[in-house]
Amino acid sequence: MNRRHFLATVSATALLPLPIFAAQDTWRLKAETVTQQILPTGDNATPILGFNGSMPGPELRVRRGERVSIDVENGLDEGTAVHWHGIRLENKMDGVPILTQELINPAGTKTYSFTPPDEGTYWYHSHYISHEQVARGMMGALIVEDETPPDVDHDITVLMSDWRMQEDGSLSDEFTDMHSVAHGGYIGNFVRAFLSKDEVKTGDRVRLRLINAATNRIFPMAISGVAGSIVAFDGMALPTPRDMTDLVLAPAQRADVIVDINGPVGFDMMTREGSYRLADLVVNGTNPDRRAGPIMALSQPAVPTPAEPTQHLTLTMMGGAMGGRHDGDNIWAFNNVSDLQADPFGSFQRGETVRITLANDTSFPHGIHLHGHHFYEVGEDGDLGDLRDTTLVNANESRDIICVFDNPGRWMLHCHMLSHAVGGMRTWVNVA
Ligand code: C2O
Ligand code: CU
Repeated sequence: MNRRHFLATVSATALLPLPIFAAQDTWRLKAETVTQQILPTGDNATPILGFNGSMPGPELRVRRGERVSIDVENGLDEGTAVHWHGIRLENKMDGVPILTQELINPAGTKTYSFTPPDEGTYWYHSHYISHEQVARGMMGALIVEDETPPDVDHDITVLMSDWRMQEDGSLSDEFTDMHSVAHGGYIGNFVRAFLSKDEVKTGDRVRLRLINAATNRIFPMAISGVAGSIVAFDGMALPTPRDMTDLVLAPAQRADVIVDINGPVGFDMMTREGSYRLADLVVNGTNPDRRAGPIMALSQPAVPTPAEPTQHLTLTMMGGAMGGRHDGDNIWAFNNVSDLQADPFGSFQRGETVRITLANDTSFPHGIHLHGHHFYEVGEDGDLGDLRDTTLVNANESRDIICVFDNPGRWMLHCHMLSHAVGGMRTWVNVA
């Protein structure tokens, strides 16, 4: 394999666009082993896991307010379960073994069925030994289509991930090597994005749905050849479009941007050693009908409005390398406790507004994800900020969130650096 493809150098990879299907209300996903060309042509193909013969799996397109039914067949030789990340769905469809369902055993099938309440960009991934099954490729985009889509020429999904490749193109199996778990997690040495379309014209207006599907890597992004705005985070439309400087995606986070194409388009990840090309969008020809109008906000989400919080809890992230001691029995902990316990971190009445201080008392950033709900990040000014399902809290910083717990059930709350989650940074809340 060619060394120049590896991190710290710039590489342009040959891309195959993923097939796109129209919105459907029934889908079938088969989890299976796949051998796929992840590295550039000329290098070996990589044995990985995928759905329906590919990684990422098919882009599922569904409609808000319409029930969708997804049969997941397990073609692996170990159990699995699939989580529909960011969808505010019924608890029993959330895809979390032990908390919400039994494992899907090898050769077994489970039908997931839910009615997505929000439009936007979501994704699905394994939630069983996910630090390994997701790192091996069990991921795909889940798009809840807009009733009134924005006026764009193309709607393109950009799903990013990384792999810890060996010389022969196979994946390293150090998914739980303790050094990685105690630091930034299993971080790949090869990074790329998969695009759902790979060609546009100069002058086109394009919606890009960026999804960070990597298990542990944070992507500071730069997109060249475009001018435009961020219109949504984690599926939820921003009240007003925002400029694209400081576009950072923690694991599991999404950003929708709407851009006008000015020239060759490159998606770059910024690293200390410079920029690293994740994907190119070929620009071929000119659109004579360039749009003059401003980029407008998407239709606004209908999440419940917070009331005055009735509880204020603190979740302190602890442990890891260069971190303080804690009483948990794994590498990481929340409030001195590692891993899922019989008792939840929080117990809420349905509809209760709760403030949670996420205090990062470690030397690493953490992307904290709550299942079944979106929450508001509270700004420095104390005002409600962005609606998110995953929030990035940097080392030794803290952030308050405010959430209306209106969805009954047992919901996970965990670090989405999946190595940290398996290393103990996971808990749950109960909504009665
Ligand atoms: Cu994206 Cu608990 O998961
Ligand atoms: Cu973490």
